[in-house]
Amino acid sequence: MNRWSDKNAIMQIYPRSYSDSNNDGVGDLPGITKSLEYLKGSPESLRVDAIWISPFFPSPMKDFGYDVSDYQDVDPIFGSLDDFDDLITEAHERDIAVMIDFVPNHSSSEHQWFQEALTSRDSPTRDYYIFRDPKPDGTPPNNWLSVFGGSAWELHEETGQYYLHSFLREQPDLNWENPKVREAMADVLRFWFDKGVDGIRVDAIRWMGKDLEFRDDPWNEAFVSGQDPYHIVRHENSRFSPQLDDYIRCITAVAKEYENKIILLEDHLDDLTPIESQIKRIYSIDPGVAAPFNFQAMHIEFGARSFADTVNQYREFLPEGANTYYCFGNHDESRLATRFGERQARMLAVLQLTLPGTPVLYYGQELGMKDGYIPKESIRDPFELRVPDRGLGRDPERTPMQWDASHQAGFTAADTSWLPVTDSYKTVNVKHERKDPQSFLALHKRLLDLRDQHSVFVSTQYESEYVDDNLFVFWRADDQNAFLTVLNFSDYDVDYNIPEGGTVVVSAQNNDYEIIGSNATSIKPLDGLVIRYS
Ligand code: GLC
Repeated sequence: MNRWSDKNAIMQIYPRSYSDSNNDGVGDLPGITKSLEYLKGSPESLRVDAIWISPFFPSPMKDFGYDVSDYQDVDPIFGSLDDFDDLITEAHERDIAVMIDFVPNHSSSEHQWFQEALTSRDSPTRDYYIFRDPKPDGTPPNNWLSVFGGSAWELHEETGQYYLHSFLREQPDLNWENPKVREAMADVLRFWFDKGVDGIRVDAIRWMGKDLEFRDDPWNEAFVSGQDPYHIVRHENSRFSPQLDDYIRCITAVAKEYENKIILLEDHLDDLTPIESQIKRIYSIDPGVAAPFNFQAMHIEFGARSFADTVNQYREFLPEGANTYYCFGNHDESRLATRFGERQARMLAVLQLTLPGTPVLYYGQELGMKDGYIPKESIRDPFELRVPDRGLGRDPERTPMQWDASHQAGFTAADTSWLPVTDSYKTVNVKHERKDPQSFLALHKRLLDLRDQHSVFVSTQYESEYVDDNLFVFWRADDQNAFLTVLNFSDYDVDYNIPEGGTVVVSAQNNDYEIIGSNATSIKPLDGLVIRYS
């Protein structure tokens, strides 16, 4: 297998929503296996050579798999361990690397460790979790908040102590100060690496490190009403404590027992602290094997300067030779084509797929799928149910993959899917878009083919050429080729003198790019051109 930093692209698959092989309305592992050719192996494939599968482990599904009740098995709704072995075998036959999710901050409250911990204060697994006495007046030990609303502490009346849950009360936090937890979790990783897993996406790392004295979080003076109430405090003590780095190194150490494994860390930058120190810290944890995702495109405004400045500044903070893993959307954020608009999303595809770094695509992003409309009675996400009507719910971006224009978009033969298919599925689907040369899919295929054919795209070389309020222009060049990416973020034609001698090989808004010609001086609204010089 090629090195992780040489991967053409990683596709994030949310297994509930990708492909349903047993027609119960929920996607599963055999569904993923049978759809691998979409990614790699035939001339029509996207040339995606890595997948990351969100959790498929046994779970009561309070947070749809991010509440794991057994780290070493497959939830029957997704199939079996044999199905997982088949998936790995078939993926590897196509030279597709497989990354799985690992949820170290918390287990499900139904995990046997937690069930055992609840039996008494002296239980052997009590210290796998974080139990604390109430304050003298009976209130929680401190003011830490749950991401999903309310206090992060839940009283367990039978044993008279509170336990910490940074997310749902059904997701008790594990105690990484306890060496037994570290050992048990290292064994979980070995179990999956021994099965042939190539990489691990580590969930919610920031919360693993908490202040060992459990001091209150300070109030956030910058809080404005209407904001997510979680941000009423600055999370200075409840997360990102200095011990975090050591905890992560317990994970990377296991990866280093094997060859060519990767640990990708889920960490959103905190905008109340300087980003330089955050980026440098995460990259320095174990540079040979671990790197964070870059989520900045999910949090910034649309504009040439905001994108260019974000990319260029991030690069300044990167250690020498480090790779960037650009995520422009995932299962927690509104879809790209909804957040910024369809034409904007096409242009950003040109950006994401020509920047130095590995693009991480979220299933359906390549089709231009938008957020689905979720009627009240169909809401499933606990975030929306607990903190309603603030646009925090994540169901809209988790709707079923749109394969064709048939019943349930070809996702399932069941009467209904676990979340409703979006209205757009008659035309926004794989089958239709494969035939339409102007489709989102055709654009992505063009870009992924290009990346696959020219090694300069997986190199770290990059040179920012020009930035103004409308344009972001950069070079990718090596001994063989030079490519210029010209992005017009504005709604009108903008003049730019493209150096002579090049050939337009991609246009974001017009897949008949050959007719654009190489001497264009006027860049169309929201166009993204890739121009080849060789
Ligand atoms: C991460 C996951 C999110 C989940 C949370 C708690 O942020 O991406 O989906 O709800 O962690 O595990």
